[in-house]
Amino acid sequence: MDPRPSEASLVEMAQLLLPGDANALGAAFGGSVMGWIDICAAISAQRHCRQVVVTASMDDLHFHAPVKVGWTVNLRARVIAAFHSSMEVGVTVHSENPLTGERTLTTSALLTFVALDKDGKKLPVPPLLLATEAEKVASAEAHARRTERLARKGTGATWQALVDAPVKN
Ligand SMILES: CC(C)(COP(=O)(O)OP(=O)(O)OC[C@H]1O[C@@H](n2cnc3c(N)ncnc32)[C@H](O)[C@@H]1OP(=O)(O)O)[C@@H](O)C(=O)NCCC(=O)NCCS
Repeated sequence: MDPRPSEASLVEMAQLLLPGDANALGAAFGGSVMGWIDICAAISAQRHCRQVVVTASMDDLHFHAPVKVGWTVNLRARVIAAFHSSMEVGVTVHSENPLTGERTLTTSALLTFVALDKDGKKLPVPPLLLATEAEKVASAEAHARRTERLARKGTGATWQALVDAPVKN
């Protein structure tokens, strides 16, 4: 498969923050922002591999600042690294004051998607063409994160058992 440039996976998406997506403080509800992040990142991964993808994980999710009702929510996503059947996608979210245009970073997240065929079988994805020094550094960091992420994946048995434990009255 021919390598694909990371610009080919760039996605820009905008939302208006309406009251239905707000919390009790009149700021964005985190779950709505997470849903938009998932969609924006999935489109980015699909642009890279031109296959259907599913979300395998979302991590490094941070809500840096609130978004007010009536403000614009700007999302950008881009493939940071391509592995075998999976890709890491980075997403940033900036609020925009509609009256002044002032933008603030409000959320950032990393997601991993896996390319699947119609029977749910994993498909190889194209390598990522690393053209700039920044792209090379970001991809190397993503490879290191992938090792940590996969090592952590099987380590949740203790806390999952605690959460799932029946409560004795
Ligand atoms: C994601 C999924 C396809 C992985 O399948 P699997 O058989 O467990 O995974 P494998 O061990 O064969 O790994 C397949 C790839 O996924 C990656 N992967 C698996 N679990 C992962 C995780 N938790 N985080 C990041 N990557 C992961 C592996 O590194 C591998 O990538 P590679 O081919 O590039 O090396 C499978 O768990 C699944 O279908 N999950 C549900 C997805 C879904 O429904 N998402 C919607 C959100 S509700």
